[in-house]
Amino acid sequence: MTKLEIIIASTRPNRVGLPVGRWVREQALAHGGFDEVELVDLAEVNLPFMNEPHHPRLRKYVHQHTKDWSAKISEADAFVFVMPEYNAGFNAELKNAIDYLNAEWHYKAVGLVSYGGVSAGTRAAQMIKQVVTTLKMTPLIEAVSIPFVQQFLDGDQKIVPNETMLAAGKTMFDEMVRLTDSLRPLREETRAALAPANG
Ligand SMILES: Cc1cc2nc3c(=O)[nH]c(=O)nc-3n(C[C@H](O)[C@H](O)[C@H](O)COP(=O)(O)O)c2cc1C
Repeated sequence: MTKLEIIIASTRPNRVGLPVGRWVREQALAHGGFDEVELVDLAEVNLPFMNEPHHPRLRKYVHQHTKDWSAKISEADAFVFVMPEYNAGFNAELKNAIDYLNAEWHYKAVGLVSYGGVSAGTRAAQMIKQVVTTLKMTPLIEAVSIPFVQQFLDGDQKIVPNETMLAAGKTMFDEMVRLTDSLRPLREETRAALAPANG
């Protein structure tokens, strides 16, 4: 069983991240390479600014919100980050959510679906690679980069993709499935080591 979690990184009211995330979920389901696909909305997860007293490596979480977040991320085999570009970087809420945990992220592929203006969020996507590789995630070079994202929204705030976006999504999911399978032994080792603390 492989589970993909699609994380919507932006949390502000009227964010474009929600329609983009819903579109990515549809694409993942249509692709069919994952047994389970879940949309994880950071606005709903609603983590406060990092307030754990211990380093996440120790897994001595004291807050229920962290224990819940740990359980959610542990379940996943791969991620897509649906991420905006804010001031030529990735958004703070995503960094905060990443920083809460450590081994829960290990040996999981991450696809980057970024959006913004002319840059299509690519500066944010490049910047986050340094962070995710520190946590032993593998970011895919195959990505979906959406320029001037507003142009792809219809009157119902639904994404209407072009051919480039559809092809990029398919390529990204193809590679993600291959990588997710290849990383499985390392992920299982990590999961086994984590099991007692999770229980
Ligand atoms: C604080 C802030 C900073 C932004 N900085 C950039 C930027 O550096 N590059 C860019 O292409 N778009 C930038 N934008 C425009 C966003 O790409 C656009 O508002 C997008 O809808 C943001 O994603 P969201 O709606 O999911 O929050 C910025 C928007 C905000 C709110």
